[in-house]
Amino acid sequence: PQRSEDARGPAGTRDPRRRARRQVIIVGASGDLTERKLVPALVSIARSCAEPFGVVGFARRPKTDEQFRAGLAEAIPAELRAAWTDLAPHVHYQQGDVENAEDLAALERRLDALADGEPAGRLFYLALKPDLFASAAERLRAAGLVTRLAAGTDAPFRRVVIEKPFGRDLSSARELLRRLHSVLDEHQLFRIDHYLGKETVQNILGLRFHNAIFEPLWNRHHVELVQITVAEDIGVEGGRAAYYDGAGAMRDMLQNHMLQILALVAMEPPSSLDPEAIRDEKVQALRGLRTLDSTDAAQHSVRARYARGRVGGVEVRGYLEEDGVSPGSQTETFVAVRTEIQSWRWGGVPILLRHGKRLAKRFTEVQVQFRTPPLQLFNRPEGMSDAELGRQLRNGTLCQIRPNILRIAIQPAERITLSFGVKRPGTAMVMTPAELTFDYQSHFGRATPPAYERLLLDAMNGDATLFLRAEEIEASWSFADALLDAWKAPEAPPVEDYEAGSWGPESADRLFQGCEGTWSRG
Ligand code: BG6
Repeated sequence: PQRSEDARGPAGTRDPRRRARRQVIIVGASGDLTERKLVPALVSIARSCAEPFGVVGFARRPKTDEQFRAGLAEAIPAELRAAWTDLAPHVHYQQGDVENAEDLAALERRLDALADGEPAGRLFYLALKPDLFASAAERLRAAGLVTRLAAGTDAPFRRVVIEKPFGRDLSSARELLRRLHSVLDEHQLFRIDHYLGKETVQNILGLRFHNAIFEPLWNRHHVELVQITVAEDIGVEGGRAAYYDGAGAMRDMLQNHMLQILALVAMEPPSSLDPEAIRDEKVQALRGLRTLDSTDAAQHSVRARYARGRVGGVEVRGYLEEDGVSPGSQTETFVAVRTEIQSWRWGGVPILLRHGKRLAKRFTEVQVQFRTPPLQLFNRPEGMSDAELGRQLRNGTLCQIRPNILRIAIQPAERITLSFGVKRPGTAMVMTPAELTFDYQSHFGRATPPAYERLLLDAMNGDATLFLRAEEIEASWSFADALLDAWKAPEAPPVEDYEAGSWGPESADRLFQGCEGTWSRG
């Protein structure tokens, strides 16, 4: 997607006398997201953005501008300190409650004053509990802080950013979307899935549609299976249990981040890089997902939760022992599912998705595994009979034909690897595995920017490509809801236990039934 002019323009020094024409208002600014992610991202944007903007934190706790700035300054990473000094005078704090009309009127007066009465675009980031999103948007609208604007209008923008979870099932998501749409136009709503802000996730589109060699193979004729893993080594700590215990791995990761990655892997080529063209194709791919009924779920899904174990050499608690988890909780911290996308391109290709907390290591990866050649010509020792060759291939003494696998490592490694076989030097025709690798860090000599930086910049510029459209959220919930329902049936797979620091329950291996392959270990 195109960046707007100001993002590409030369790094401008911020003139402190020049008032902001754009304002980013963080509603609920006292949460840790503000200092951990949002403000560092805004500081980094300010560093390379010629057009100035202001930041206003809005929250209930009483604080002065100076106190707010001092709290933020502590969390600014060393490499952003200089840029923070430039932005800090444009960072303000307004005490108030989003539920209170007078507080919102005071916020509006403050925003107007900070813009010197000039018209300014306003981006409201709702850093609030998800069940407050709809009412907060309604209150902002009632207070006149946001208004419904037609797409393409010249009026200063009014946008609202929210971040998952968007509901806890299809019907609550629809209700949230309906209420947001009753306040604002779709083009004013920016729904974050932070995985789309990751450079390596965006590159899935580039890899597929800028290179002619992959696309002809990217279908059921050549692809044997697709697997996506999001493995985490962290557990559910730091006060997250209250949310997580009511959500679980399925709602927390698979329904959103993982299906977004899958949508990019599986979508048809868009006609352009226009946000709607891309999102149309993602929606189509998600709608093609085969939902699992209770019989499928018994066979093709696995759920489990971590038990006590060791991660990185450190003894850790089991999920049920974490603070805030209800006794007897049946919440899963691991989910693995086998499904497919019902389309001409993908029909019959197993799509395997796996996510777990407290696994052996942290990595996110997509593997596209190609079909093997129909005949094994190589690796036959001289004079070996067909029967002996067959036996040795079966028992693994001889190198079998290994499928070519394209691995797209999303994090923490950021690389793309294509595996293939090469002939080992010598007189025997023996093949050995080799790889072609592209690595972001070594190729570009720098780390990729954090997801929030890209997403906030795009929201400020009104580019919705990397944000979720309502239909994507609905299609993802349709898939997740069916599985969550199937898990309530008597034949549902039990919630198994796996040792923290392991690769999850062994039963997840059964999802490969009928195909070559194993779960990736990153
Ligand atoms: C969040 C989930 O959306 O994503 C967390 O709620 C999870 O449970 C996190 O840990 C993972 O994000 P990342 O970018 O660290 O992979």
